[in-house]
Amino acid sequence: MSRVAILISGGGSNMVSLVASMAGDHPGRAVLVLANDPAAKGLQRAADMGVPVAAVDHRPFGKDRAGFEAALLEPLLAAQPDVICLAGFMRILTPDFIRRFQGRMLNIHPSLLPKYPGLHTHQRALDAGDSEAGCSVHEVTAELDAGPILGQARVPVMPGDTADTLSARVLVQEHRLYPAVLRRFVAGDRTPVLL
Ligand code: GAR
Repeated sequence: MSRVAILISGGGSNMVSLVASMAGDHPGRAVLVLANDPAAKGLQRAADMGVPVAAVDHRPFGKDRAGFEAALLEPLLAAQPDVICLAGFMRILTPDFIRRFQGRMLNIHPSLLPKYPGLHTHQRALDAGDSEAGCSVHEVTAELDAGPILGQARVPVMPGDTADTLSARVLVQEHRLYPAVLRRFVAGDRTPVLL
């Protein structure tokens, strides 16, 4: 059984879809949901699903990323995760932290990588006149949003779309894609999932 920790910053809808997927004969189990904001709505949702939760507020650490990450490591290492899923976790992690979990940390990003790493992905897709958009799950490496792609889901861009309507359409696919990739990943299969 693979022990899966999930890091969030906000509502945690991707976290909910991951936790819900890890049931029955699934080879993974959620052992911790960890947030960088004690007020993250997803913490209560995780607790309601019976998953242990913890929060380490990044704000008192200011620019001291190493200090924040040292604090983050305490509950994370205590949970002894085999796999870490970043699910709407909006803090940039240092190469030192990432190296520690090399090859076993995943992230979901709301664009068809390598297009639009970073923020405001949906607005950038609209501004570019793209006819499709989507989301990607990738392995986390030191370079932001650039690790090996483990899955992608595509959606059409519709006439009249705004960043909000496009984001809602992509999010529906995120909730399908991330569990599908995680299931393969914990089974040792790195073949990309294409939805
Ligand atoms: C999701 O759309 C996720 O792809 C995005 O944040 C949202 C979190 O929603 N992640 C990033 O932009 C990472 N750079 P959720 O909290 O409801 O899962």
